[in-house]
Amino acid sequence: MIQQLILLEKEAIEHINSITTEEMLTLFKNDLLGKTGKLTVILKGLKDLNPEEKQTVGKFANTLRDTINLVFEKQKETIKQRWIEEKLANTWIDVTLPIEETIPHLHPITQVRMDVEDTFRRMGYEIYESREITTEYNNFDAVNVPKTHPARDMQDTFWLEGNGNVLSTQTSSMQNFILKNNTPPIRAIIPGRVFRNEDVDATHENTFYQVEGIVIDKNIGMDHLKFTIRTMLSDIFWKEVTIRMRPGYFPFVEPGVEIDFSCPFCSGNGCKICKKTGWIEFMGAGLIHPNVLKEWGLNPDEYSWFAFGFWLNRLVMIKYGIPDMRYFQNPDIRFLKQF
Ligand code: PHE
Repeated sequence: MIQQLILLEKEAIEHINSITTEEMLTLFKNDLLGKTGKLTVILKGLKDLNPEEKQTVGKFANTLRDTINLVFEKQKETIKQRWIEEKLANTWIDVTLPIEETIPHLHPITQVRMDVEDTFRRMGYEIYESREITTEYNNFDAVNVPKTHPARDMQDTFWLEGNGNVLSTQTSSMQNFILKNNTPPIRAIIPGRVFRNEDVDATHENTFYQVEGIVIDKNIGMDHLKFTIRTMLSDIFWKEVTIRMRPGYFPFVEPGVEIDFSCPFCSGNGCKICKKTGWIEFMGAGLIHPNVLKEWGLNPDEYSWFAFGFWLNRLVMIKYGIPDMRYFQNPDIRFLKQF
């Protein structure tokens, strides 16, 4: 049996030293020392030997197993070392290549959001952060959109499973929160990300940013609304901008208006961006609807108010002449590097 073992050891060591990958090494180790491995099978014959022989052969077999294990480990190291040497020899880095400019900067939406916040802060507004997930109540009911109202279909909503919550479709969903947690006078803007289940094109996105504004004070009217929006836009564009107001419908304002910008791409001549109208629909606004105020327990004889909401994405597009809203969510570095 000892002879058998000596032969096995010789063959095994030779073979191990010829192996060149870790995988083959593991396979061979199993072949030799595993449960049905060659050495294990030979050692099963131990039980037929007399006690004396058993002891000698047993001892010999143990030393042999240790030796073989050691050879396995050494070969593993050799394989690793060879791999590293090969990599070092065949991989190289061109240290003369110019280094890419990596100065970090903010996304254009964030930059303009901060500009908007600045201008409103100067007008005495507080800045709130909107909630991306909200209740059906805050998103619809609290702003006068009852269950049966067709306005609920106006916005294709992402409903969350099970609990009736929604991804905010409008920052107006924050109006209720602001009113419940403050007492007038209130001047607040709420920038936030909103979600609509819509087809995406150059001027529509399923995920975009809005800024909500809400003012509740004494003797507040349309003139304040107009002044506020013009001030903000003139601040953002560093010049007087042309806006127009036309009647608009939103269930939470009465009267409601749409405010448009003259299109800066075609100077009002008509192009793809303004759908050939010369104007860019910019925002919804109006005096807050009496039903919404009743909901908040405010007395219309004492207070007056306005609210507005606009798409921050659209403002950024106008400011920087970006022709397609889809760029904002596209992580193409060539787009982002321009800001
Ligand atoms: N929430 C409206 C929208 O998403 C905008 C709006 C806000 C209109 C406040 C009027 C008043 O389009």
